[in-house]
Amino acid sequence: MERPRLTVTSMRPLLIAANWKMHKTPADAVAFIEDFRAVDAGDGVETLLFPAMTSLPAVTAAVRGTQLEVGAQNMHWLDEGAYTGETSPTMLLALGCTHVLIGHSERRRYFNETDESVNWKLRSALAHGLIPVVCVGETKGERAAGATAAVLERQVSAALRGVDRTGAETAIFAYEPLWAIGDGSPAPPSVTEDAHTRIRANVASVLGAEIAHRIRILYGGSVDPQNAASLLALADVDGALVGGASLDPQSFAAIGRTARDRANDCRARGGQF
Ligand code: PGA
Repeated sequence: MERPRLTVTSMRPLLIAANWKMHKTPADAVAFIEDFRAVDAGDGVETLLFPAMTSLPAVTAAVRGTQLEVGAQNMHWLDEGAYTGETSPTMLLALGCTHVLIGHSERRRYFNETDESVNWKLRSALAHGLIPVVCVGETKGERAAGATAAVLERQVSAALRGVDRTGAETAIFAYEPLWAIGDGSPAPPSVTEDAHTRIRANVASVLGAEIAHRIRILYGGSVDPQNAASLLALADVDGALVGGASLDPQSFAAIGRTARDRANDCRARGGQF
C-alpha cells in the first residue's frame, strides 16, 4: 500500500502574493484594493501585495483594518547612508511594510543584484523583523545545460550564508524559473515539484530540517486563474507569487479563491493529500 503523503500545509498557511512590478500609481493601487475587496474579503488565505515604492504609503493606508499585507519590491540592507535612490528597512517599517521581496530575477538581471547582495538584504530584513520573500530560479540556458539543481543550490546557500537560525523560519522562498516568467505557461508540475523539493533540501542543509519544514516556498512564473489549481495542488508549493495576473483585481481574487479551496480541502483531509 502506498504510504499517504503527509504534508505540513496546515502548518504552512498558503500565501498568495501580487508582484505589481513597475505598474500602478497610488490612485491605481487604491482603486485595485477597493475592487479586490468588493469581490474578496482577502480572508481564509494570506494575501500580500508588493506595490511600487511610490504607492507604498497609499497602499499601507488603504489596507489598514483589512487582512491584506504589504511589502516592498526591494530595499537596501543598511538603515541609512549616502545611497542615492535607495530605501532602507527602517523606512519600509515606518510605512507599515511587513514583507520585502529580495533578489527578483529582474533585479538580478537588470540591476546587478548578486547572490552576495541578496544575502545582505536577507540578513538585514530578518534582523529588522521584515519577512523576506527571496526569489531563486534558473534561466532557460541553465535548465537546458542541466544546471538547475546547481543554480538553486548556489542561490539558496548564498542567500542563507551566516543567517541566524532564530527567526529564520519566517523567511519565504519563491521558485521563479526565468523561462516561465511572463511567458504565458508556467513550469510543468513535475519541474516545479522537483525544484521545490530541492530548495527545501538546500534550506535544510544550511538551517536544519526543522526550519526547512516550516519555511514556505512559493511558485512564481505565469500563474493565472486557469493554472493556479494545478500548481497549488503540489505538496511542496505553499503559495504563488503572481505578476501579470495580479494586476487585475478579478483575476487575482480568482487565484486567491483557488488557494482557499485548496486549503479547505487539505484541512478536510486532516492535512493530507
Ligand atoms: P508573471 O511574473 O506572473 O507575470 O510571470 C511573476 C514574477 O515575475 O514574479
